[in-house]
Amino acid sequence: MNKILITEFMDQSAIDLLNKKFEIIYDDEIWKNSDLIEKKIENVDVIIVRNKTQLNSNILQYAKKLKFIGRLGVGLDNIDTNFCEKNNIKIQIATGMNADSVAEYVINSSLSLLRKIPNLNSRTIKGEWPRTSISSNELQGKTLGIIGFGLIGRKVANLANAFRVNNLAYDPYLNETDLSKENIKLTTLDNIFNTADIISIHLPFTENTKNLIDKNSFVKMKNKPIIINSSRGGIINEKDLINAYLKKLISGFAIDVYETEPVKRSFLDKINPDMNCILTPHIAGITEESNQRVSNFIAEKIINFFYNL
Ligand SMILES: NC(=O)c1ccc[n+]([C@@H]2O[C@H](COP(=O)([O-])OP(=O)(O)OC[C@H]3O[C@@H](n4cnc5c(N)ncnc54)[C@H](O)[C@@H]3O)[C@@H](O)[C@H]2O)c1
Repeated sequence: MNKILITEFMDQSAIDLLNKKFEIIYDDEIWKNSDLIEKKIENVDVIIVRNKTQLNSNILQYAKKLKFIGRLGVGLDNIDTNFCEKNNIKIQIATGMNADSVAEYVINSSLSLLRKIPNLNSRTIKGEWPRTSISSNELQGKTLGIIGFGLIGRKVANLANAFRVNNLAYDPYLNETDLSKENIKLTTLDNIFNTADIISIHLPFTENTKNLIDKNSFVKMKNKPIIINSSRGGIINEKDLINAYLKKLISGFAIDVYETEPVKRSFLDKINPDMNCILTPHIAGITEESNQRVSNFIAEKIINFFYNL
């Protein structure tokens, strides 16, 4: 019987499905112990990971039988794709299965930060009553700048349309030139910096996108926008982000992804509860619904691959 090693959490219904046809080793903490993964990976045909398990060539060299890597998500930053290609190991990502959860996270963060909910919440809990001292805004009619207009960027624009938002998108790799019927204006990065009230990043992390948003970008932001990054850490320079907030170049930020994860203490030391910010531990794409979709999608792909269905 073919063996599967699952190194991070997976929805139980999908594990049950796989259990009927494969021998399963499920340990959602094993990603912390690369020595143990090295030992286990030797005898498995499939490994299922999220983004924490490091499948670099040092580990993959032990994977003598490995034919399939199931990635419960979409990013491939933790997998040596060249090694897999050379060694005929198929990598399957769960394209689109968590996109709705990320898009909802962006709208949620936009609404919360415009209304200053983080600060109002912490001060009300402290016994204060800042009813008139903190002003806040509606989302309706604001300009949303979406940087990276792929699957998630499009879903964000679609949800934002319900709030009659002006959607701007920057993505030089798009084939379309006119998306005005969907209320989306394609534009330049600088125009987004100049005119957006909310800027949301939906890019892959590459040499081109590393530090794409840095101090030079923040000085161009005229409307003191809210910044949201639910894509990959390192695309926004974290030090420059905090400085931009302290200099009042931006009015808030929601960050789900960090230069290193878990987030560094040195970054957290710069945050205080009075800031208009939301920090979350890389969960934008994780809801019960998306976990079920992602897990079942990968389980079905594995069954199809080994049983030619
Ligand atoms: N936080 C989470 O839980 C979570 C969950 C899912 C996805 N993600 C991340 O969200 C990001 C977007 O995912 P997606 O599914 O929309 O990807 P996608 O590939 O569908 O879209 C990315 C878009 O970015 C564009 N792009 C690439 N380089 C660019 C550049 N230099 N400038 C402007 N545009 C550029 C591409 O043309 C593409 O349209 C990815 O980094 C993904 O890993 C995060």
